[in-house]
Amino acid sequence: MRDLFDKIYKDKGPLGKWAAQAEGYFVFPKLEGPISNRMKFRGKDVITWSINDYLGLANNEEVRKVDAEAAAEYGSAYPMGARMMSGHTSLHEQLQTELAAFVKKEAAYLLNFGYQGMVSTVDALVAKDDIIVYDVDAHACIIDGVRLHMGKRFTYKHNDIESIEKNLQRATKLAEQTGGGILLISEGVFGMRGEQGRLKEIVALKEKYNFRLFVDDAHGFGTLGATGAGAGEEQGVQDQIDVYFATFAKSMASTGAFIAADQEIIDYLKYNLRSQMFAKSLQMQLVVGALKRLDMLRTMPELREKLWKNVNALQNGLKKRGFDIGTTQSCVTPVYLKGSIPEAMALVKDLRENHGIFCSIVVYPVIPKGLILLRLIPTASHTLQDVEETLDAFSSIRERLENGTYKRLSAGVQASEA
Ligand SMILES: Cc1ncc(COP(=O)(O)O)c(C=O)c1O
Repeated sequence: MRDLFDKIYKDKGPLGKWAAQAEGYFVFPKLEGPISNRMKFRGKDVITWSINDYLGLANNEEVRKVDAEAAAEYGSAYPMGARMMSGHTSLHEQLQTELAAFVKKEAAYLLNFGYQGMVSTVDALVAKDDIIVYDVDAHACIIDGVRLHMGKRFTYKHNDIESIEKNLQRATKLAEQTGGGILLISEGVFGMRGEQGRLKEIVALKEKYNFRLFVDDAHGFGTLGATGAGAGEEQGVQDQIDVYFATFAKSMASTGAFIAADQEIIDYLKYNLRSQMFAKSLQMQLVVGALKRLDMLRTMPELREKLWKNVNALQNGLKKRGFDIGTTQSCVTPVYLKGSIPEAMALVKDLRENHGIFCSIVVYPVIPKGLILLRLIPTASHTLQDVEETLDAFSSIRERLENGTYKRLSAGVQASEA
């Protein structure tokens, strides 16, 4: 028998093995100063393209004022306990009512964290004889929810309708034997590459197959659709989404999340969501802050207009310069380049140190080997000047990548095998 920790001493995991080269710079970086389009990284001014503050609310003066007043009034403890026991208030109810109306559903229920909320919503929606059908590129919180499922699950090829249909056929056959139902889970927007889930086509399959649709719209909420109600509204199928999820961690620039559905489904979920029944209620300062933010989402379409002006300037500018930005249909702006992990590290260092551009870098194993994904998140607080500077910087790093500069700079950098 070996010691439980032996494997940890030997293998730090696919990302952890890069810790010696990456920590503090590529991962766990410290961005300092007020959250905005320009912040400080290791004492240097950088244009920040890595924060999901889509509508620029994180440092909005009115929002900050409401947050501060709510913190002064309620502190960070109130209310104590889980919703079901002692953590329920009228303001929690009011926020739920307003969120439901905003996303055009009968009812909503607050979640103290998006991730855990997603995990336990999946868990609560299915029983052993039910079958889950979900996208192979689903967010980790969906995968973890599926992991709790005691019955069968099928993954389909990313956003591939043919594969979805094939898996619905398999699931239907199986469900006829088990006597269960089918839950299909998609994201409204896939956060890494920016494609919208093909909700319209998925919904059309309801004509042929009997399933319920659960959509994680973390990136769509507040950014897509005529009123900002998300990917379902954008694609004209919001009423066909059976359970809708969004987090406050992106457009709302806060913490917390919610699910929305028919009243009867929410009534069921509020008595069966283990992550809410056995954990502390969303803090009041976050509830009050979310009411303020939601009011701004509703009444200030100019925030979304400014966001999209920046998104379009950035994405069109990149395309015009010949960059591959994949198939994004949202604010998420991926830029794909070809290179090794050490080259990617040298390139990002150049971007940050010499061009003052801070964006996230994604490499294998999150994306295929040999690809570098630089992920840019435009927000309403960016300016066209930020976009121009960034486009110039990107042209420069592409040239240096292609002429081998980063290969030379990175010679000798290898992942520690320890
Ligand atoms: C698609 C998606 N779902 C769920 C979550 C989790 O939300 P939270 O940060 O509120 O836990 C995230 C990340 O924030 C996300 O990107």
